[in-house]
Order: sequence, then C-alpha cells, then structure tokens
Amino acid sequence: MYMEKRFFLETFGCQMNVVDSERIVDLLQEIGYRQVVQPDDADLILLNTCAVRDKAERKVYGHLGRYKPLKEKKPALILGVGGCVAQQEGEKLLAKLPYLDLVFGTHNVHKLPEMVRAVENNRVRCHETEFLDQETRLQLFPTRILGDTVTRFVTIMQGCDNFCSYCVVPHVRGREISRPSADILHEVRELAAAGVREITLIGQNVNSYGCKGEGEISFARLLAEVDGVPGIERIRFTTSHPKDLSDELIDCFGLLKKLCNHIHLPVQSGSDRILQMMNRGYSRGQYLDKVRRLHAVCPDIRLTSDIIVGFPGETEEDFEATLSLMAQMRYADVFSFIYSPRPGTAAAELPDTLEPAVRQARFERLLALQEEISRNWRDADQGQVFEVLVEGESRQGNGQMFGRTTWNRIVNFEGDRSLAGQVVPVRITRVFRNSHLGEMV
Ligand code: 5AD
Ligand code: SF4
Repeated sequence: MYMEKRFFLETFGCQMNVVDSERIVDLLQEIGYRQVVQPDDADLILLNTCAVRDKAERKVYGHLGRYKPLKEKKPALILGVGGCVAQQEGEKLLAKLPYLDLVFGTHNVHKLPEMVRAVENNRVRCHETEFLDQETRLQLFPTRILGDTVTRFVTIMQGCDNFCSYCVVPHVRGREISRPSADILHEVRELAAAGVREITLIGQNVNSYGCKGEGEISFARLLAEVDGVPGIERIRFTTSHPKDLSDELIDCFGLLKKLCNHIHLPVQSGSDRILQMMNRGYSRGQYLDKVRRLHAVCPDIRLTSDIIVGFPGETEEDFEATLSLMAQMRYADVFSFIYSPRPGTAAAELPDTLEPAVRQARFERLLALQEEISRNWRDADQGQVFEVLVEGESRQGNGQMFGRTTWNRIVNFEGDRSLAGQVVPVRITRVFRNSHLGEMV
C-alpha cells in the first residue's frame, strides 16, 4: 500500500520566513508530503529559523533538542533546518547535531525536494548554503496565488545592503535584490482576482526597492500601481528604513486611498552618537523631520518602531535620549530588544562593558514608558467607530469574527462569517492589551 508521507514545519522570525515557509509547504506537497500539526506524526520535521538575536537562535536549538527523542524512537524520521541559523552555521550544524539530516540556507529553499529525496533514498546527510547569483535569484522569488485568505504578503525585494552594525541580516540573507515590478503587479492582480483584499508588500528594506538595478520604478510608483488594482482594498508595507523614506513615498500617505495610515519605521535609538555607531545613516533630527512630514500629509497616521537597548557603549545619557524620543514620538507600539552580539557583525567587535543588569534595568524602564503610551492610544479608541477589514473567524475560537483597523489593530466582534473580505464599521466597546472588542454598527 502507498503510504502518504507527513511533514511538520515550524517557522520562527520575520515575514520573510513566513513566505519562505509557504514555498516549503508547496515544494513538499509536490513530492507527496502532507502537512501535519503534530511533530509526533511526522516523517519529516523542518525548522525555518531566525538568527536575528541570540535568544531566537537558542530557541532553535531548544526545539531541535526536543525532536531528538522522536528521532531515536523512529530512526527513519528526517530532521532538517533551514532559514537564517542554517545559513549562518551551515555544515557546522551537522557536526554539532549528529541527529540532524539536512541543512538548507536562505537561498536554497528550492533545493529542498532534491535534498529530502537524497536523505530518503540514501540516508546521506546534506547541506546547501551557497548564495546564488542575482540572475538565478530573480527566477526564484516566492509567489503563491491563493485567495483563501483576505490578506497576503507579497515579496518585492530580498536581502539587505545596509549593514547596520548590529545586524546579521545582510550576512544571512545576502545582497539586496528587487523583483521586477511587472511580476509583482501580476501577482497582486491575480491575488485580487482570487479574493484577496489586503496586500502587504514585504522585504528587508522595501524603501530602497528598485534603487539597486536599472530601469525599475521607485517604491512610491510601485505603491501607486498597486493602489490602482481593482479589488484590493488596503495596502501595507514592511519594513521601512528611515534613511530611504523619500518625500515621494511620504506623499503616498496623502495621495493613495488604499494605503493604510500606519507605518512601521524602526528608529533603533534616539541618540545621535549611537545611531552613528549603528551605521543607520540618519540622525535623530532627520528622523523627526520625516515623521513631521508624514503627519503633515496624513494627520492621523500612527507609527510603530523597533528599538535596541544597550548597544555597546550606550551611556545613561544615550539611553535617556531614546526615552525622550519615544515620549515625543508617542509610537502606538514599540518592539524593543536588548542588544545581542551577532557573529560576523561590526558591533560584535566593539568593546562592550555594559553590565547585563544595567541593560535589563534600562529595558524595563523603556517597556514601562511605552506601555503607558500604548495604553493611552488604546484607551483613546474606546467608544469610537472604525472601518474594519474583516479577515475571518477570531483566533480565540469563540465564534466571533476579527479584522483590523487601518492602524493594524485587531478588533474582535460578533458577526457573520460571510463578512470576511468586507470593510465594516465597528464601534470599540472594550480595549485589551493586544486587541479590541467591538460591535458592528
Ligand atoms: N540585537 C538586538 N536586536 C536586534 N535587532 C536586529 N539585530 C539585533 C541585535 N543584534 C532588532 C532591530 C530590528 C529588529 C527586527 O530586531 O530592532 O529592527
Ligand atoms: Fe538589518 Fe539594518 Fe538591513 Fe534592517 S536595514 S535588515 S536592521 S542591516
């Protein structure tokens, strides 16, 4: 009897990995594997990993350790690691973990079927972590025309050339490359025709879309083109680099009706000295100028940010500059991280004398300040009516529906399943930390 094989896939990290994982699912289905939600049932277990901070990386080893006993019970089980830790560690991972079968890097997702077959047939252990040339990469941009969700990510560029001194991304994702706009627009049109209503254009640094090659339109032009696609109701993009946020792009927030009134604009630090050491390419003043322009063209825009606490050599004064910037910015939300040295990055070579306890204390001060600001934003929404793009049934499993406001805030409410894909007015009746509760009006 033919036995269908089963795979279990675990995804860590950012949207790029989410999209790569979709590709992995498709490729494995093509070679006869079916996805399961329990690792115990699987013949193949894959981890798509993140290396952006030490904590994320350690998590990968933790999870792998958990699968080791499964492998001991079922020796035919294939265990593989992909993504950024795979790219960073390569062959070394196989040496470190004798129960691991395959390692595939960020440019080698397409080789997975071949590799799985090789392990199945010959029980060889294999790794593929070569970076590809730009020509080949262009052929391999992930696409998936599926209209089974209201919202979809569309990859417009990959890699990063910025080399912020703390960041491992340029080392594990390789050089920046933009996908041809014609391909992107084709995908968006197809998605719209299949029922998708919201597109998030993703890339490590979408603002520099098209800048590295010749003959490509600017990111602002690309947004305008997507704005013109019938059926698409909302557009978002992430992640933006402040230095590449052009006036033309800022103007889009005033001009394009479908572009949501939210931008994730990671500042990383409020201190000019630290920004320079981070190689961010902008000053605090330049950042604030751009934000002022954003507010001028779109008065109710809300911003979110990433901030790193305890960069090597960060003084109390530097840290307070970050706090004061946060107080001034009043971000709707901040993703904050304690600095974590990453192998191969410039910052990892800097002398670092900050005590862990100092970093931790600063981190907690920052969290407390932001929590107060975020709470104010949430409370201000109470009682107001917002347009919500309904995405589907609430993940809380209580029969409610959920959607998002233009600011990307999740709203749960009582409603019919047929509302999915529609924009409906919802009054906010209660505010929680991570979502709002509302009622349709
Ligand atoms: N340590 C701490 N945080 C980091 N980030 C990136 N690299 C590091 C690091 N080495 C954070 C940045 C980035 C977010 C995705 O992760 O804030 O914007
Ligand atoms: Fe990392 Fe900076 Fe590139 Fe973002 S822009 S991925 S922080 S190097």
